[in-house]
Amino acid sequence: MGWSKERLEEVARTRLNGAKLVIVANREPYIHRYRNGEIEWIRPAGGLTTALDPVMQACGGVWVAHGSGDADAQVCDEQGRVGVPPDDPNYILRRVWLTKEEEEGYYYGAANSMLWPLCHQVFARPVFDPAHWDAYRKVNQTFAEAVLEEAAGGPAMVFVQDYHFALLPRLLKNARPDLVVAQFWHIPWPNSEKFLVCPWAKELLDGMLGNDLLGFQTQGDCNNFLESVDRSLECRIDRERFAVERSGQDTTVKPFPISVDPALADEYLGDDWEARAALVRKKYRLGQRPLLVGVDRVDYTKGIPERLRAVDRLLHKHPELKGQFHFVQVGAPSRMHIPAYRHLTEEVEGLAEKINWTHGNWAWKPVVFLNEHYGAADIFVLYRMAAGCVVSSLHDGMNLVAKEFVSARGDHQGVLVLSKFTGAARELTDAVLINPFDVDELAEGMVTALHMPPAEQERRMRRMRSIVEEHNIYRWAGLLLSEVSKRVPDPTPEMESASTTAQAPHNHAAAATAVEERIARENFLTAMHLASAGA
Ligand code: G6P
Repeated sequence: MGWSKERLEEVARTRLNGAKLVIVANREPYIHRYRNGEIEWIRPAGGLTTALDPVMQACGGVWVAHGSGDADAQVCDEQGRVGVPPDDPNYILRRVWLTKEEEEGYYYGAANSMLWPLCHQVFARPVFDPAHWDAYRKVNQTFAEAVLEEAAGGPAMVFVQDYHFALLPRLLKNARPDLVVAQFWHIPWPNSEKFLVCPWAKELLDGMLGNDLLGFQTQGDCNNFLESVDRSLECRIDRERFAVERSGQDTTVKPFPISVDPALADEYLGDDWEARAALVRKKYRLGQRPLLVGVDRVDYTKGIPERLRAVDRLLHKHPELKGQFHFVQVGAPSRMHIPAYRHLTEEVEGLAEKINWTHGNWAWKPVVFLNEHYGAADIFVLYRMAAGCVVSSLHDGMNLVAKEFVSARGDHQGVLVLSKFTGAARELTDAVLINPFDVDELAEGMVTALHMPPAEQERRMRRMRSIVEEHNIYRWAGLLLSEVSKRVPDPTPEMESASTTAQAPHNHAAAATAVEERIARENFLTAMHLASAGA
């Protein structure tokens, strides 16, 4: 049987044995912000939130995240809680407030100037600053307090996301040994030589071994992690069971390649996508020419300058293709407070301008760079219009743009040009696989995409779609929950009888309590909804 939202709901209900689900991720799934004096909400760019929101919608529970929008506080209660999705709430977002100094040291510093470059093989030098590290520790503690509040009063499973919270699992386990704690590391794990240059490597590893389950994107990442642990900490590694035993605690380490909800594509495209596509063509003067598209946060791991240099190379090598296509790059602004990201934005703008000057004319601009935040509905229209989608990450844990593109192509057309150095390349072997550091190979990959006969496009796209349909986000979450639920204690006799009686219609008192609880929850969510809608 395939994995669906309904099957995940069922797994969450039966396997969690009534334990509450608390997700922790730095980035919130919905951001409230002021625009023209009004409060609006947006969904941030980046694969993590896109992937996990449907999981929370299926399982329910609480998502603890940094409240980063300038109107976030306006729509929350005193605890920082708001029901989401804002237009139809069905789970709770608990926002944690950070000071500017904390955000600077923890998010821009330790997370994104140290761990991000440390974990990606892109030749960017990590910054090891003790002040950043202090802030990272402190913020992990702040999140631990918020999670413990949310998990108070009963059994809970805490599912921690990513490199912002390496210390959190240990803090949670020390405070509440009964909590079941799992973590998913969305980005790659480097080899041990590279990782162990970090001055706080041992603390990071020890923090992560507070987990019952630790998931990575690939087996290679798991092996690198186990090697790092083996070379630096006192512990026993059981390679048969993929487990680390340290001070009496067992951590299972396994790969769980993340994915998307393929069913969302039709929702985003809607019935009017062709009309919206026509508007895009008109707005950017694209005529009826084929489009190659790139959709990324502007991040130096994504290989955006490499991609543009390949467009330049292609136009030099194949002048017959001048005027025959456009390259449309959506580049969502990201982490702009970090100099490397600001410089990258300037570099991409400069390259786009130079290519357009060199090869273009008044009637045809080869590169269209859209340096703005695009919503999912617009991005899916671009995916659907494209002759090809180019994902040229220099190193990427998974890359969900590749899977989204495939999910958008119900017409079985379109070519995916995909970097070999993404997790996605292991599953989507029918993409045109390229080395993004090799400008000629990348340029030829784009030419292949522009020339591929429809029948071959269809053959490849059908195979890729069946992989994304089967290995969807519900399977990812379902397998993770099933694995970690082995650690969820069996319900106590009292819990068991409460849950069976709550389901039995003849026990009015228990049934009423269950309904009251449901109504209280719904009232809370509705109140939150009204607060955010009316605000
Ligand atoms: C990557 C990280 C996520 C992060 C996302 C967006 O996918 O693995 O943890 O949320 O990028 O980056 P941002 O810094 O904006 O959250």
